[in-house]
Amino acid sequence: MTVALQQLRFRRPDDWHVHLRDGDMLESVVGHTARQFARAIVMPNLTPPVTTTEQAIQYKDRIMTALAVSGQTASFTPLMTLYLTNNTPASEIAKAKASGVVHGVKLYPAGATTNSDAGVTDLLKHCGAALEAMQQHQMPLLVHGEVTDPDVDVFDREAVFIDRVMLPLRQQFPELKVVFEHITTQQGADYVATAEGPIAATITPQHLLYNRNALFSGGLRPHWYCLPILKREPHRQALLAAATSDSSRFFLGTDSAPHVKGRKEMDCGCAGCYSAWHALELYATAFDSVGKLDRLEAFASLNGPAFYGLPVNEEYVTLERVQTTIPEVLDLKAGDLVPLAAGEAMAWRFKAD
Ligand code: DOR
Ligand code: ZN
Repeated sequence: MTVALQQLRFRRPDDWHVHLRDGDMLESVVGHTARQFARAIVMPNLTPPVTTTEQAIQYKDRIMTALAVSGQTASFTPLMTLYLTNNTPASEIAKAKASGVVHGVKLYPAGATTNSDAGVTDLLKHCGAALEAMQQHQMPLLVHGEVTDPDVDVFDREAVFIDRVMLPLRQQFPELKVVFEHITTQQGADYVATAEGPIAATITPQHLLYNRNALFSGGLRPHWYCLPILKREPHRQALLAAATSDSSRFFLGTDSAPHVKGRKEMDCGCAGCYSAWHALELYATAFDSVGKLDRLEAFASLNGPAFYGLPVNEEYVTLERVQTTIPEVLDLKAGDLVPLAAGEAMAWRFKAD
């Protein structure tokens, strides 16, 4: 007889990739992230994007104010990022590093996703000086790894990005710290597991739990639409194997990306899944599905700090094996938000210490 584990206690985790937005949406969602995570790498794709250290500091202040308004009292530190543009000067990287507030610079290939219009059109052609400075200052480059070439099939954009951009980038800047954000393919997982030099990857809950069938299950399902898009089942399995492996290069990044219900359920609806409310429940369900709950602490709480050169958190959290049903909708100040896996049962429930 085997007795299933009833409780899991581990170091408080961090979210190494989240969208907190601004204004009412920020006030609506920041408390959810702060409830489960001690720190989070906050994406800079606001309108207009966060391109300077000064803007990042101001955005951090707005996040802390919104957190106070939200009523969430758990301690939370936002780790800010800059949005890389064709014109980011090397001096801005030095300033960002010196601030102690900015912990990464995000590459959005122009047109790849939500608010990426100001993104980079040709990385090695336009961003050489900034990349050189990032390498020198040990400032990680956080990569949305998809090509935007319309001739490349949307399901192949990540794999093609590795050959066209990632390999030449890392050949030219071998000491640059790179996080391959929200990997979605076997090719991405294999590359990160085996490549030389300082490389790591975040993995979202949706890419661990679902394959692309979820997008079409019983009809068109916009709440499973995110970018990079869900892939075939063998890719999901490769990601699950990577996340639960002994490699310290894979860590938690929800890519929680809130859009109100109406902006998802429309023609040309927005990309993004909302998972901040129940992130650990989702990850625990994924790890449990392959009997690897013992690997969750490394993925959620240890590997990220090690890569970013930050201390691990001193607090602890608990997950209890209690069946919980994810609400169909969250009624928030910004409007109705449909969480990932709405209406589904999860076997685990989060409990702060
Ligand atoms: O699905 C996504 N949503 N992917 C991204 O890269 C951006 C994000 C957003 O900001 O909504
Ligand atoms: Zn994202």
